[in-house]
Amino acid sequence: MAFKILLTGGLGYIGSHTYVDLIAAGFDVVIIDNLCNSKRGVSDRLEQVTGVPTDFVEADVLDKAALAQVFTDHNFDAVIHFAGLKAVGESVEKPLQYFQVNVVGMVNVLQAMQVAGVKSIVFSSSATVYDPIQPSPLNEGMPTGYANPYGYTKLTCEQILQQACHADPDLKTGILRYFNPAGAHASGLIGEDPNDIPNNLMPYISRVASGDYPFLRIWGNDYDTPDGTGIRDYIHVADLAAGHVKSVQALLSREASHLVNLGTGKGYSVLEMLNAYSTACGRALPYEIMPRRAGDLATTFAEVGRAKQLLGFSATRGLDEMCSSSWHWINTGAKLVSPDG
Ligand code: NAD
Ligand code: UFG
Repeated sequence: MAFKILLTGGLGYIGSHTYVDLIAAGFDVVIIDNLCNSKRGVSDRLEQVTGVPTDFVEADVLDKAALAQVFTDHNFDAVIHFAGLKAVGESVEKPLQYFQVNVVGMVNVLQAMQVAGVKSIVFSSSATVYDPIQPSPLNEGMPTGYANPYGYTKLTCEQILQQACHADPDLKTGILRYFNPAGAHASGLIGEDPNDIPNNLMPYISRVASGDYPFLRIWGNDYDTPDGTGIRDYIHVADLAAGHVKSVQALLSREASHLVNLGTGKGYSVLEMLNAYSTACGRALPYEIMPRRAGDLATTFAEVGRAKQLLGFSATRGLDEMCSSSWHWINTGAKLVSPDG
């Protein structure tokens, strides 16, 4: 019988792509999402892409009764916990909301797992948990830290998971520190579609390309990098999705818990990203240089050896594929999802 997985936040950007790969790998999957940053129509899109009816329950991870009901209705083998809030700036303004959703939400999921006897969880962590003074490439053994409430919630969740494992040696956790997700599914039917103005580079560039915004604001060109703009490790969301499948497979094989970076090991600057996207969409995209954004680092990219060694994971898709798939999504799929659909 197929393993059954609960995806929290499964209609969101990374969750929806992971769903497609899990179905392709033969898993049964149930999604819960409260739609605070995704649209109900994504569920239909997932059905189109996979050819399998989507088992979606609208529920909030803060609603313990709803969570308990989902765990009563299904016999899960593992949970992949994506549900959370992710806007760094908003977390500075509303820290309590971030502690509530990201930390309390994860504790609720762990408690529901405990009652149901579910012993495997994959968690969406972030490169933001590295101490900002560490030089790249960032490896998993380096000291951690945080510069804002969002980063604090990710680091706290990692520590809660480690302590929960200590208390219950049967509990296995896959902590995945994502670098910068980019791109969309090759079908053009699912992609990044934030409900608000995007803070992140790639979704913002895609909306300049679509004409929604007139130009990109580049936050500083005086960093110590070859062209002066910030360098990040962009990883195709389809590669990230594949990393989740490997992570959950390792946990279900009862291998040891793991904590790994998911990146490519290579960094690109803001200008390199803008140029690559300009090539993908066929026109030079306008930009203006602005002052640095508070809290930004010059350069971050991953050391990728541990994910390869423990999970056999390596990213395979390059920058062109990230930009062309994003542009395909913006031109086809993104237009078809109505604001409330
Ligand atoms: P996303 O906002 O597209 O997806 C998150 C999903 O969770 C959304 O569909 C949202 O509606 C849902 N959700 C939020 N709060 C919820 C709640 N209380 N109950 C149920 N559902 C809820 O974000 P994403 O980019 O897919 O990120 C997924 C996870 O990965 C998040 O935890 C995020 O912090 C983490 N992460 C993202 C990035 C990134 O750059 N995208 C980087 C590192 C880590
Ligand atoms: N940038 C711009 N203009 C924009 C947006 C971004 O110039 O409109 C620049 C930033 O200054 C930075 C680079 O593009 O140099 C990437 O910025 P993002 O906001 O896309 O990504 P960050 O690396 O700052 O942060 C993201 C997530 C964090 C996560 C981190 C690592 O927002 O939550 O990646 O995973 F922790």
